[in-house]
Amino acid sequence: MSQAAEYIRKNRSTYLDQLQELLRIPSVSTDPARRSDVRKAADWVVARLKRAGCTRVEIEDTPGHPIVYGEWLGAPGRPTVLVYGHYDVQPVDPVELWHTPPFEPTVRDGRIYARGASDDKGQFIIHVNALEAHLQTSGRCPVNVKYLIEGEEEIGSDHLGAYLASHKRQLACDAVVVSDTAMFGPGVPSICVGLRGLAYLQVDVRGTSRDLHSGSFGGAVINPANALTGMLAGLKNSKGKITIPGFYDRVRKLTAAERKGFATLPHSDASFKRAIGAPALWGEAGHTTLERLWARPTLDINGMWSGFTGEGAKTVIPAEAHAKISMRLVPDQSPDEIATLATRHLMKIAPPAVKVTVQRLHGGQPWIAPADHPALVAAGRALHRAFGKKPVFVREGGSIPVVADFSRLLKVPCVLMGIGLNDDNLHAPNEKLELDNFYRGNEAAAHLMDELGRDPAAPRPVAVKQGGPAKTGRRSKK
Ligand code: BES
Ligand code: MN
Ligand code: MN
Repeated sequence: MSQAAEYIRKNRSTYLDQLQELLRIPSVSTDPARRSDVRKAADWVVARLKRAGCTRVEIEDTPGHPIVYGEWLGAPGRPTVLVYGHYDVQPVDPVELWHTPPFEPTVRDGRIYARGASDDKGQFIIHVNALEAHLQTSGRCPVNVKYLIEGEEEIGSDHLGAYLASHKRQLACDAVVVSDTAMFGPGVPSICVGLRGLAYLQVDVRGTSRDLHSGSFGGAVINPANALTGMLAGLKNSKGKITIPGFYDRVRKLTAAERKGFATLPHSDASFKRAIGAPALWGEAGHTTLERLWARPTLDINGMWSGFTGEGAKTVIPAEAHAKISMRLVPDQSPDEIATLATRHLMKIAPPAVKVTVQRLHGGQPWIAPADHPALVAAGRALHRAFGKKPVFVREGGSIPVVADFSRLLKVPCVLMGIGLNDDNLHAPNEKLELDNFYRGNEAAAHLMDELGRDPAAPRPVAVKQGGPAKTGRRSKK
């Protein structure tokens, strides 16, 4: 075992204590009432980066929440790694469903429960701990490290784009490393090579100037809720295909090798169904569950509201109806183009008796690991060392929009080395992180620095084929 990994094992309880400290700060980025708590979390990250040994740490205020930057550049001639993560978290509602309070981190059954445990406080911090472990044991780190930890990921990273553009030189690196995804399953270390993008819209439908008595007026005017549900119902057909003209035009078809790669992963529809409590699985005809999740676009209503929803009955024709709709996108769809196509289509199918407006809320490009890269091989070795198993290559149905921006702006590979699990309850009550994954993740992050720093110029074997996983390695033993 390396000295750094040994240091991490010895200091497990310190690292757990520190994580708990961060988890106690309710940095809910979407909640204006939590603005100062978000700031507190940023300040905590600043202090932690300094203590870990970063020689330069800055906090950049934005019109939203602060961006934290840190660096340790004491390995001239060695590669430079940029670690990205987010210290903001999702809201906690419905809070009554939490078994213990979301901002009072609690260890039970080998897990730590708290909002942000897995998304993303307990994940990005492993790379900070790893730097500290190297510096504490050998006084140096095998690579140069930069940290970019933001506070607006959960609300669309609105101010990160401008920061990236104006700090391009400062952020220059040889690889980006992100831990903000899930492993394929318990005990299955994974490298994520694809993320879906996102186009998120709000549709507002307005009828009359005020709510009306549904007896006095019903029949003579359109009901915006009926109009909206009719419009939305037509957006998907019975085979699960989205009916917006042009929606699929740029969807990259899976290659036979990619489909085979997905199919060799240890996935079971039966246990997936059980795990999420679904009576049956449903999705686009002609595709497996993993294909539907990772490589096919979706359209989902995320919320709808209109009229009377309280106890009992109220006979009313609502003046307005609203829906939030998200579309998860795959290469080579563009969020702007899809938002335009969807808006145009909604306008076209809207009954003339209502007024419809469509707002764009979030957008994010889909991403796929662009080419075979030694950084992915290095991550594979690091995970192998920490978890005792070769990792599998997976994709993710969720979105981390900045990853595509990094690829485009910095022109470097992104290594997505998540240590979460799909049952970590991200964005839901009782979010948790497995402590075993946390501890091994710290070690994997330390090994990754070793692996990336080793023989920086030497050519390395190729592991991932263009566009997706070529081999899974899941059957290999230690
Ligand atoms: N860490 C998640 C992305 C993710 C989700 C990874 C599920 C693995 C599994 C990230 O914090 C997130 O929630 N992203 C949002 C993006 C949106 C707010 C722009 C998402 O996917 O909904
Ligand atoms: Mn996240
Ligand atoms: Mn999230």
